[in-house]
Amino acid sequence: MKASFHRHRRLRTTAGMRKLVRETELRASDFIYPIFAIEGENIKSEVPSMPGVYQLSLDRLNEELEEVASLGIQSVIVFGVPEHKDAVGSEAYHDHGIVQKAIAKIKEDFPELVVVADTCLCEYTDHGHCGLVENGEILNDESLALLAKTAVSQARAGADIIAPSNMMDGFVAAIREALDEEGFTNVPIMSYAVKYASAFYGPFRDAAGSSPQFGDRKTYQMDYANRLEAIREAKSDVEEGADFLIVKPTLSYLDIVRDVKNEFDLPVVGYNVSGEYSIVKAGGQNGWIDEKALVLEMLTSMKRAGCDLIITYFAKDAAKWIAE
Ligand code: PBG
Repeated sequence: MKASFHRHRRLRTTAGMRKLVRETELRASDFIYPIFAIEGENIKSEVPSMPGVYQLSLDRLNEELEEVASLGIQSVIVFGVPEHKDAVGSEAYHDHGIVQKAIAKIKEDFPELVVVADTCLCEYTDHGHCGLVENGEILNDESLALLAKTAVSQARAGADIIAPSNMMDGFVAAIREALDEEGFTNVPIMSYAVKYASAFYGPFRDAAGSSPQFGDRKTYQMDYANRLEAIREAKSDVEEGADFLIVKPTLSYLDIVRDVKNEFDLPVVGYNVSGEYSIVKAGGQNGWIDEKALVLEMLTSMKRAGCDLIITYFAKDAAKWIAE
């Protein structure tokens, strides 16, 4: 027979052949694992909507981090669950706030782990918004000073990377300036540059207790229908001095990941968010899907789309499965 068509299947004949031509490979070091640190003692409390994810008091952090480190995961992102909240989110920038204490402890016990600090106010404000509120409006410029203060206190506690997530305009510039003034010129900013207002954040708000008490986040987080806006958002963060660009969520936004990857030359980070985790966990627990296969497929697709790094609640599971 004449070779009038292409035999693509030649490169798929055996496992060895397929491995030889595989274009994308996941590594445990691609993952950043989220940690929820909570005030109190001897607390390891599973988040109901996120099986396998825990709020941990400082004295219970090490067992989790030992597992993380032993799996070859080299970075964590830390969120704080404070005891007290107020209108101005004081606990976010208190030098002995829960997140500052957690960062200091992790750096003391696991100096090699790269510790990323999520820099936001919503876990610390009683209204649950990411900035200051006046007459129902989320204030932009007035919130920047508090965010910068939070970043500096986290850097002082030992954070290796500052990750501002509150979506106020100018937050990268404000934080860069404050960090530099305090001598933290070498602390990079991993900006939540492209963050959509998303129903995929639901379970996280259980984990961090950060649901907005009125309204929603649509005046500061982006409309999921928009694509060009992602480029505008990322561009301004690059100009303001961001060192990494986060796209969030990831799974429904792989087109945006690719756009950002093609447009800019900074490392791109996908945040595989809580809702993306919970739906897969639920499907797996019900026996409706093959969790392991699905997780590896999802994470590989994120890397293929352009994620250099992935913040994911699946980090431990995936690292185990990759090593098998
Ligand atoms: C704080 C913040 C949120 C997430 C990370 N940082 C929640 C939000 O914007 O409401 C969500 C992460 C997740 O869903 O896993 N602003």
